[in-house]
Order: sequence, then C-alpha cells, then structure tokens
Amino acid sequence: MSATPREPVTTVPREQWSTRTGFVLAAVGSAVGLGNMWRFSYLTAENGGAAFLVLFIVMLLLIGLPIMLAEFVIGRGSKSSPIRALTQLGSGKWRPAGAIFVACGFLILSYYSVIAGWTMRYAGDAIIAGFQPGAGERFAQYSEGGGALLFHLIFMVVTIGIVSVGVRKGIERTAMVLMPLLFAIVAGIAIYAAFLPGAGAGYAFYFQTDFRAILDLDVLRAAVGQAFFSLSLGMGVMITFASYLSREDHLPKESGMIAGADFLVAFVAGLMVFPLIFALGLSEMVGESTIGTLFIGLPEAFHAMGAPGRIVGLLFFVALFVGALTSAISMLELVVSSAIDSIGWTRMKATIVAGVAIALVGIPSALSAEWLGVVDEIAGTLLVTLGGLIVAVFVGWVMMSPEAEAAKGAGRVRWFPAWRFLLRWVLPPVLTLLLILGIIGTVQNIAGMFADEVEPATEMIEPEAEPGAGEGADGLQDGALLLPEGIVLPG
Ligand code: PFF
Repeated sequence: MSATPREPVTTVPREQWSTRTGFVLAAVGSAVGLGNMWRFSYLTAENGGAAFLVLFIVMLLLIGLPIMLAEFVIGRGSKSSPIRALTQLGSGKWRPAGAIFVACGFLILSYYSVIAGWTMRYAGDAIIAGFQPGAGERFAQYSEGGGALLFHLIFMVVTIGIVSVGVRKGIERTAMVLMPLLFAIVAGIAIYAAFLPGAGAGYAFYFQTDFRAILDLDVLRAAVGQAFFSLSLGMGVMITFASYLSREDHLPKESGMIAGADFLVAFVAGLMVFPLIFALGLSEMVGESTIGTLFIGLPEAFHAMGAPGRIVGLLFFVALFVGALTSAISMLELVVSSAIDSIGWTRMKATIVAGVAIALVGIPSALSAEWLGVVDEIAGTLLVTLGGLIVAVFVGWVMMSPEAEAAKGAGRVRWFPAWRFLLRWVLPPVLTLLLILGIIGTVQNIAGMFADEVEPATEMIEPEAEPGAGEGADGLQDGALLLPEGIVLPG
C-alpha cells in the first residue's frame, strides 16, 4: 500500500484508444478466440449440455465479470502495463506477481500461435485443393513437425507486424475490421447450418440437459476455467488494454458488453458446429473428442458437403484464424507494453525482441504436441488461475479505493459493494481451492503423459466412451483439452 519507487518510464507519451468502440472491439477480439468456437462446444457437449451452459453463464457473471472489472480498474487507475501497475498501486513486493502475468501471456502465446498456424493451413487447403478424405491422418500430419513450425512462424510474423504498428493503427484498426467479419461469418454459417437436413439432431444434442452435472466438481472447474480463458483474464491482458483508456469510459458497462459479446460468439458457434456435424452424420465424433471435433470432424463434414463445403469450410477456418489473431495480438501487446514500460524499449524493438523470443519458445510446441500440452497445463490453466487470484486479492485488499476508480465515468453503481465483497471474501478462497485441485491434477496429468505409450493420432476419433454428464476429459485439469495422444490444449 506504500508509495513505491517508479520503474523506468519511456519518454514517448502513452497511446490511447481513439474511440470507445475501438477499445471494446479490441477487448472482444482478445476474448473471442479459438476457445469460443471450439472449446466451448466441446465442453458443453461433454459436461451436461444446457446444464453446462447455465453454469458457464453463472461463472461468467460471478467470477468473470468481477475479475474483468478489477483488471480494468488496475489498468486505467495506473495507466501502466501489469508489472508497473501492481508496483505503483501496491508496492515493490508485487513485482513478481506482475511478472507472473507477463510470463503467462508469453507462454500461452508460444503455443497458441502453433494452433493458429494449423487454422491457417486448413484455410489454405480449402483454397488450394478443397477438403480431402482422411482428415484424421491429415491432422496428425499438420499438428506436429516442420509444417506446423513453418505456420507457427508465419503466424508470429503477422502478429508482430500488427503489434509493431501500435495501439491505434495496429491493434484497434485490426479489431475494427476483423471482429465484424468474424461475427458475420459465425452468424452466417449458423444460419446456413440451420437449413441443413438433420440439423435438428445437432440442436437436440446441444440443448440436452443433464442437471446433475451442475453438482459435479469437475464440471464446475471446467466452467470456471472456461470463463477465465475465454475472457482472457488472469494474465494482465485486460490490465494492459485498460491502461490505454481515457478517464471517461464506463468500465462496468464495457465489461458487460465484452463478456456478453464473448458469450454470444461461443453460443452461436455451438449453433454452427453441432448442426453441421450432426447433419453430416458424424455425431459419434462429438463429446468423446475435443480437438477432433474441429480439426478432424469438421473437415470431414466439409468434404462430405461437396462444393458448398469448400466455401463454408474456408469461411469457418478464416473465422478461427481471425479469432486466434486478435487474441494473439493482445497477448503480444501485454509483453511488449511491459517491456516498453519497465525497460524503456521502443515499441519496434520491444515487439521484435518479444515476438522472436515467443516464436523460439514455441518451437518445441510445434514439434511435439505432447510438449504443447505440458506448457498448456502449466500456463493455460494453472498460471491463469493464479493470475485471477492475484487480481482478486490485489483489488480486494491492497488497492486503495478501487470503487472510486471504477466509479469514474460510471457514477456510483449499486452493486459496487457486492463486487468488492466478492473480490475480498468469495473469490480468494474459491480460486485457491481450484488452484490446489489444479496443481494436483496437473502433476497427475504430466506424470501420466510421460508414463503412457504414445498412441496414433487417429485413435481419438474411434468411438470408445459414451459422452455423458460429468465425464471430464479423462481426469484432465479444467481448462485442458484432450488431444490425440493425451495432449491437452487451450480453448
Ligand atoms: N480468450 C482467448 C480465447 O478464448 O481463445 C484466449 C486468450 C487470449 C487467453 C488472450 C488469454 C489471453 F490473454
């Protein structure tokens, strides 16, 4: 709580978003990503259908929204990237906590970019040769090795190019163009899928309800994990974005808009994925596999659809790519902004050095999907939960009058006391418990990964287990996805 020595500052004045819409779309761009279009559908299918949906909405409201508002308050209150923000508003002791945020963004981007590379490759396939049969083998070939590495590097170059141009010209402009495009594609495919014969079975599957699932601890962990990951919380991305805000923004309203848009895209993505898969008779792929649904099941479906499948498939993978790109931009910006604020580098230097370092750290993930799974377990699930805990404790207990900061541009909102109460008394114990459970699960998973024989990638699409309520992905940590060889991926 004491005043702290300032970290070195740059001489360049801090950039600001040019419009409120620009900020909101950039934050939505960060939130909407691979998680919405793929992980959400899978988790819903596996964890009790509509029951998971209800639980996810509750977690978004009870955990996602309060943490997002807290990150915004830290960011706008300090006008700094996470490390400097925590030391300014708290004390020098908080520097390691800020460093955890940056490390988390750094690590997640290193493998998120590998998955984004896969989406580029599938989009390229749709253009060049169309979707071919044998999607399982193709996925095995695309997900690891030289090709995966090449596309990972290409994706990082594109991300570096955009972030190097700056907040307004790079990040904001990209989001203003790409986010409406993504919304249009997702809505368009969902409408198209509704007219496919057999789509009804997809909706029935999506909305089947097993309310016992709500009482299952694994389902709760999955819902909390999804709320964090999907809203890009717990790693300081929203702190960084809010640091470019002017005082006038109505933070509670904007948090609500961003969370609402994120949920809407996830929900509509479900309306697109399930009817497509069920209409093409590939229902056994859903619920028992995760990445398979998307990178194996859907290309198989697009192939079966013939000529329209090529167009729909292209649009689908373009939407995935766009979602991944705007999310990746936000993660790189977190690291870049921290380097600018704390070391005093220019944006160009910070972007190139951070981008190249992230690309290099991602190489093992491109070469081994198993390694990718290990990094995800540690960064994509554990560090994010730890980050959320740090945010709750910091704003709940350490930051002086966060309500006053939240009230700027918004006036006093009736539920501010409830917000602070949640941050102080409810979220720290809940997140600590989830963190402990997560650590236990991670140790078990990682030990299991190295103990197991590696199985062929196509194994995963063979129907073995019945999808059902409360079945986690074989005891995987929440926030993790089952991949061919027992690998886990982020959403
Ligand atoms: N929210 C993104 C998604 O749902 O795919 C992933 C993500 C982006 C997580 C940015 C964290 C982050 F900082």
